[in-house]
Amino acid sequence: MFIHILNLKKSYQSGVVTTEVLKGIEMKLEKGGIGVILGPSGSGKSTLMNIIGGIDRGDSGSVVVDGIEVNQLDDNKLTTYRREQIGFVFQFYNLVPSLTVSENIEVVSHISHSPLNMDEVLEAVGIKDKKHRFPRELSGGEQQRVSIARAIIKNPKLLLCDEPTGALDYSTSRSILQLLQQVNEKYGTTILMITHNTAIAAMADRVFKLRSGEIVAESVNQIPVPAERIEW
Ligand SMILES: Nc1ncnc2c1ncn2[C@@H]1O[C@H](COP(=O)(O)OP(=O)(O)OP(=O)(O)O)[C@@H](O)[C@H]1O
Ligand SMILES: [Mg+2]
Repeated sequence: MFIHILNLKKSYQSGVVTTEVLKGIEMKLEKGGIGVILGPSGSGKSTLMNIIGGIDRGDSGSVVVDGIEVNQLDDNKLTTYRREQIGFVFQFYNLVPSLTVSENIEVVSHISHSPLNMDEVLEAVGIKDKKHRFPRELSGGEQQRVSIARAIIKNPKLLLCDEPTGALDYSTSRSILQLLQQVNEKYGTTILMITHNTAIAAMADRVFKLRSGEIVAESVNQIPVPAERIEW
């Protein structure tokens, strides 16, 4: 199993109040699979994803990603894990405004062990002709393509997407979902994606419904639907 989580718990302390945000999460996702996490605002989706990606730490339980027990890594090893194995895509692209498209991507490829070829990645995400532009000169959908390129140039084993289409209109959202499915097929990248949109779950191999820090339902799609056929 590529992702295997057992009894993961996480609380946040604010003053004297402790809030349990993850209450014993169990989760499995196979290598090369697409997983979708659904759930209402505040249910713990981003917290869970951030722990899987080594941005945050769980309090207890086991989080194994490709044989690595993430929760047991010291700070240096956690940073290396995050840098080398994980690609992140967020709702609001987080591009560096003063750098061009190719420079934004280059920053990541420089610190990677076995980066993919820049032109190949630009081609794959469909922004080769825009590589000398600055983020402000791009549409939202194009900026998200750049952020996906930046995430995949390091050839991560796992791509974590937190509401990747949250800021995009209908048709742009669909093209970004198609792109993520293409990345999954072309590079064999395992993808875990958070969304509020239940229709998107059809493209996943596995769907996890989170509510108040617990997985309340899990389903398996034997035949995931190609993103271009999903409508909502
Ligand atoms: N650093 C933090 N300190 C204290 N509480 C936090 C922190 N991060 C998250 N929380 C709390 O944990 C709960 C879960 O937050 P989380 O961001 O994981 O939710 P979410 O499911 O991603 O929500 P959304 O759909 O709105 O993004 C929320 O109640 C939030 O207020
Ligand atoms: Mg969130």
